[in-house]
Amino acid sequence: TEGPLVDSFGRIHRDLRISLTDRCSLRCTYCMPEEGVPWLAKETLLTTPEIVRIARIAASVGIVEARLTGGEPLLRPDIVDVVRQLAQIETETGPMRISLTTNGLALPKMMDDLVAAGLERVNVSIDTLRRDRYRDLTRRDRLDDAIAGIRAARDSGLRPLKLNAVAMRGVNDDEICDLVAFAVENQAEMRFIEQMPLDAGHTWKREEMVVGEEILDALRERFRLDPVGGRGASPAEEFTIDGGPYTVGVIASVTAPFCGACDRVRLTADGQIRNCLFARDESDVRRVLRDETLTEAEQNAAVERILRVSIAGKLPGHGIDDPGFLQPDRPMSAIGG
Ligand code: GTP
Ligand code: 5AD
Ligand code: SF4
Repeated sequence: TEGPLVDSFGRIHRDLRISLTDRCSLRCTYCMPEEGVPWLAKETLLTTPEIVRIARIAASVGIVEARLTGGEPLLRPDIVDVVRQLAQIETETGPMRISLTTNGLALPKMMDDLVAAGLERVNVSIDTLRRDRYRDLTRRDRLDDAIAGIRAARDSGLRPLKLNAVAMRGVNDDEICDLVAFAVENQAEMRFIEQMPLDAGHTWKREEMVVGEEILDALRERFRLDPVGGRGASPAEEFTIDGGPYTVGVIASVTAPFCGACDRVRLTADGQIRNCLFARDESDVRRVLRDETLTEAEQNAAVERILRVSIAGKLPGHGIDDPGFLQPDRPMSAIGG
């Protein structure tokens, strides 16, 4: 077979989300328990040459951008090398475009090197601006480091700079407008995310989730919002704030799924291809790359085939509202956001 990665609904896949580690420097209550989760065994983690090789094969079937996630991707010791090597991969539209989603803590010390290595864009998570709340939510007293990370991202000049907050009732839903003001001060777009059922403890309840409409109501109390439109495959619906130029985004993955426009495929830190954040199964490419009975060309062909078969079997959407919905076995930190 030839041509791009296309599924049975005609969705063409252009975006590879690569998880670089399942570990994190924070312990957000909606993601991980205090003690962490059983970490992936070291020998199962993809090496950097393996990641680059998979990305190259992905580029040969139409992937043009890579998003680095975790856990916390900046915990990977050789992250700068990973960025540099991925940014050199030739795709159909030029060099592979590299973006990063991070908690920001390590950005002050790494931002310049990441930019020099070819990073194009960064999204930083910041759920609250109150020190006590940040400490309670993340179980680490590191709000100042997160803010320093956002400043470093602002000063790097990489744009657009996006900030992510998962909206949570009784936790940060009274800070929605303050977070927007903070983002504007930092030349960033604030985005509010509906919480998805991906927590390690399986405690998510639909009734407790803050929904996109509530987020918009809260925003409209202080700002005039006008839809930007033209979102393509982006998960966020964007609005200009008070006539612009700054914008705010709402990622309503649960109440207004963007699955119909999905162009994403995922690679976990231990070398599994997932065709969806909520996929029930994974395909092992690590095993293929480590299979010494195959030639290099055979390994490449097998990885390509796995990508095609995985995408061909992609479901139309996450099915969170379906009666038999089951949360993925692995938590977000192991799948990659
Ligand atoms: P941009 O390209 O910069 O807009 O990034 P992004 O919003 O795609 O990625 P980011 O890593 O910042 O993720 C923001 C939120 O969107 C997180 O809550 C992710 O879990 C969620 N998200 C990212 N990709 C998907 C996806 O394919 N499906 C769903 N349901 N949620 C996703
Ligand atoms: N639902 C939605 N977003 C989540 N994130 C982590 N867990 C969830 C969840 N259950 C967010 C992080 C980060 C991004 C990668 O995903 O806060 O901003
Ligand atoms: Fe794509 Fe699955 Fe996310 Fe829907 S839930 S947008 S299909 S990855």
